[in-house]
Amino acid sequence: MIFMEERKRIVVGISGASGIPLAIELLQVLHSTPFVEIHLVISDGGKKTLECESKMSLSELEALADIVYDINNIGAAIASGSFKTEGMIIIPCSMKTLAAINCGYSDNLIQRAADVTIKEHRKLILVPRECPLSPIHLRNMYELSQIGVYILPPVISFYNNPETIDDVTHHIVGKILDSFGIEHKNFIRWRGI
Ligand SMILES: Cc1cc2nc3c(=O)[nH]c(=O)nc-3n(C[C@H](O)[C@H](O)[C@H](O)COP(=O)(O)O)c2cc1C
Repeated sequence: MIFMEERKRIVVGISGASGIPLAIELLQVLHSTPFVEIHLVISDGGKKTLECESKMSLSELEALADIVYDINNIGAAIASGSFKTEGMIIIPCSMKTLAAINCGYSDNLIQRAADVTIKEHRKLILVPRECPLSPIHLRNMYELSQIGVYILPPVISFYNNPETIDDVTHHIVGKILDSFGIEHKNFIRWRGI
């Protein structure tokens, strides 16, 4: 039996960039991982892209998390460094959220939780999505990478011979989960030639 205190708390933020299927699969894998406790916060932009990019309802998405926070609740547990977590994943991460985090401008709970994750020297993984990337986007990513934030854009790889969008999704989500030492059974690793 696993007690709540023994579970790893992972904060997941969903912001309004394209890529909702990635967030759904990440939450599904975390949900099926018994030692993980998911703390979820979705921005208004994230709710909009959910409508545009998936048939899943907001309540179905939220049901994958253990605790769901309102984006405006800047007094929530995850807004404080004294609430211990393993770290945070923002998937997908919009250019607006990326910019806010790089400036330390915490105007909503995703941005505040990311700011806390950085100040507490915990793991912060951003899955930023835009195309093409402007010098402003690139500078924000570069500067955050310089302070230890993982910049993990949803980039397609071909060495795993993807045949479907699901294959592409599995690979990107597998790479993200690797950073937390969590196995994704559908992630095909390179084993050498
Ligand atoms: C369908 C849709 C797709 C979008 N895709 C992107 C995207 O890929 N990257 C991005 O930075 N913004 C994208 N946006 C714009 C953001 O949602 C918008 O800038 C929003 O203000 C971001 O706020 P948030 O970071 O608080 O969610 C998209 C918006 C919509 C409606």
